[in-house]
Amino acid sequence: MCGIFGYVNYLVERKRIDIVHTLLDGLQRLEYRGYDSAGLAIDGDKPNEVLLFKEVGKVAALRQLYDSSNTDGDKTFVSHVGIAHTRWATHGEPSPLNAHPHTSGPLNEFVVVHNGIITNYREIKSLLESKGFKFETETDTECIAKLAKYVYDLNKHRDLDFTELAKLVLVELQGSYGLLLKSIYYPHEIIATRKGSPLLIGVKTEKKLKVDFVDVEFPDFPDISVEPASNFNDSLLVPGAPDLRRSQSRAFVSEDGIPMQSEFFLASDPSAVVEHTKKVLYLEDDDIAHIYDGELHIHRMRREEGLPTFRSIQTLEMELNEIMKGNFDHFMQKEIFEQPESIVNTMRGRVDFEKKTVNLGGLKAYLNTIRRCRRIIMIACGTSYHSCMATRAIFEELTEIPIAVELASDFLDRRSPVFRDDVCIFVSQSGETADTMLALQYCTERGALTVGIVNCVGSSISRQTNCGVHINAGPEIGVASTKAYTSQYVALVMVALSLSDDRISKRARREAIIDGLSKISAQIQEALLLNDSIHMMAETDLVNQKSLLILGRGYQHATAMEGALKIKEISYMHSEGVLAGELKHGVIALVDENLPIIFLATHDSLFPKVMSAVEQVIARAGNPIIICNKGESALSKLHKTYRTLQVPATIDCLQGLLNVVPLQLMAYWLAVRKGFDVDFPRNLAKAVTVE
Ligand code: UD1
Ligand code: M6R
Repeated sequence: MCGIFGYVNYLVERKRIDIVHTLLDGLQRLEYRGYDSAGLAIDGDKPNEVLLFKEVGKVAALRQLYDSSNTDGDKTFVSHVGIAHTRWATHGEPSPLNAHPHTSGPLNEFVVVHNGIITNYREIKSLLESKGFKFETETDTECIAKLAKYVYDLNKHRDLDFTELAKLVLVELQGSYGLLLKSIYYPHEIIATRKGSPLLIGVKTEKKLKVDFVDVEFPDFPDISVEPASNFNDSLLVPGAPDLRRSQSRAFVSEDGIPMQSEFFLASDPSAVVEHTKKVLYLEDDDIAHIYDGELHIHRMRREEGLPTFRSIQTLEMELNEIMKGNFDHFMQKEIFEQPESIVNTMRGRVDFEKKTVNLGGLKAYLNTIRRCRRIIMIACGTSYHSCMATRAIFEELTEIPIAVELASDFLDRRSPVFRDDVCIFVSQSGETADTMLALQYCTERGALTVGIVNCVGSSISRQTNCGVHINAGPEIGVASTKAYTSQYVALVMVALSLSDDRISKRARREAIIDGLSKISAQIQEALLLNDSIHMMAETDLVNQKSLLILGRGYQHATAMEGALKIKEISYMHSEGVLAGELKHGVIALVDENLPIIFLATHDSLFPKVMSAVEQVIARAGNPIIICNKGESALSKLHKTYRTLQVPATIDCLQGLLNVVPLQLMAYWLAVRKGFDVDFPRNLAKAVTVE
């Protein structure tokens, strides 16, 4: 996963240094999406000159590289296009050469930044090599810039418009992309396009826009519609395409006829745009946005029945302070402490605690269909998968529909059977996870009803599911998912409550859960008071351990797995979440006086069984840490001898929301104590958009 940022100023005088800072600041906001190398492209001092700056490491390293480059920062540009990228390596190791932007050749005639994967890059590369192109990098992206140059040269005798050129290039690309293309042949113009990878455009104009949408433009002459060239021969040569520039974008028409000053901010994520403008346009797959002369145009290759012929310019509701760290040292810490609030935001306007009802706007029209389904399949990865595990039992109990919980990758590997009367629920914080997306496509093709439980509004999963629920947890920047987990959990409980609200027999149980939800925010706040003791425990007892086990059963199995994932992910300590019932079937062989074993022994119907596992560990000289309810009398004897972490008590199916908090804090303090980069753990990215 990588981050893209582009900045276009038209008739707005900007110094080069300001343009570079705008690009670097934009990248810094996207750093959580990838951070092993970064780069940018800006105009040089001479006409037709493009300068590239690329560096390994975080955006700060790129900033240093630019600062030490002696480039004239005072040079002003009335109109300019700059593009930038922060990378998480998929093809080729992190290196300045492999960092984006990638170029068509030594003169940088075409430069490109790209998210996603071009699956046929090897074919394109070998064909272009046969035409004399020299490839320098190990990336798939380089072929895009070189292909653009090749197509441009082939059509040199014609005055090809940048959109037409882009169409000829894009039609050859297979795979997924969000990309920005800049060229010396089209000064002050930019192409932005996406297929399966998000991209949006922030718009800032001197005067109010005439309309809050942009028309989609289609080719006037369908007979020259662009088809892939079978073998890169001269069919990439266009016989006589019309000039599409005669159109005017209605939103940008100025009343007095004087060209309007404008700025455009192009990004893979709104968090990089909000500080500049709240007016944004989300591109759809296969849209080709072309910005020139202060206007934004959207083109498509062909007309498609039933698709809207305009793109709205929406107003973002996200505030910048929502994505800043505030007084916390790390985003993860901030996000852990935000949970009492984020969880309320998940329920806001949806749960009526007085009437004891739940109303999910995004599901309302589908509830009856879902109730009639043959089974519900929950599909997700990582932490999102754990939220499905955590809520599976309450789903089964309230809906009495068979529930399967699947890891997206395994589900696809098995080509699991899916039918039209199945309902498939896709849970994803980012809404962009490749495995989950592929599973969504798989289920859509088989006619199942698809439901999303997603945090990022406007993300691919949110847009491609039939219906769903936004969890409204707010932006989660830390790679380790915390507040998204608790909000996913609550959102799934709300779905189960909604599905069962026609069942009288479940009424008392439903009402007890809604009562539980009404208190959960204050109880999470209380659980957070464990912060200091967990900090101490991590510093003194745990930091030098090589491994750690977390045991739970029933509802707490998911909590154990989630806690273990958090610990490995950011503190790099081996940890395993184990079903407590499995202890005696093998894991018990690990028990000795050193290995830390955390038990999730809060009070529910399985408590006696968990306690018997605790006893088994103690009997083998083990030294457990017990997460239990406040004042748990059954543990009064153990309190003195063994370490306990006491959390408030709630109804069984919500207890995981409280029990996970000490484990999140433990992971956090272990990582801090070991001096690791908490928000950007090694080898990981926030959204995993590769299979
Ligand atoms: C919506 C508005 C919210 C407003 C509320 C008032 C949005 C994003 N939300 O919230 O700002 O305050 O109405 O009534 O505009 N969806 C999917 N897949 C997903 C997630 C959602 O298809 O993964 C769909 C839903 O079916 C729905 C739409 O997106 O049609 C918005 O979902 P959601 O934000 O959950 O709906 P509301 O809570 O009603
Ligand atoms: O964005 P998603 O929820 O689809 O992401 C799924 C996993 O990649 C994610 O939960 C991952 O396991 C987290 N880094 C865990 O903290």
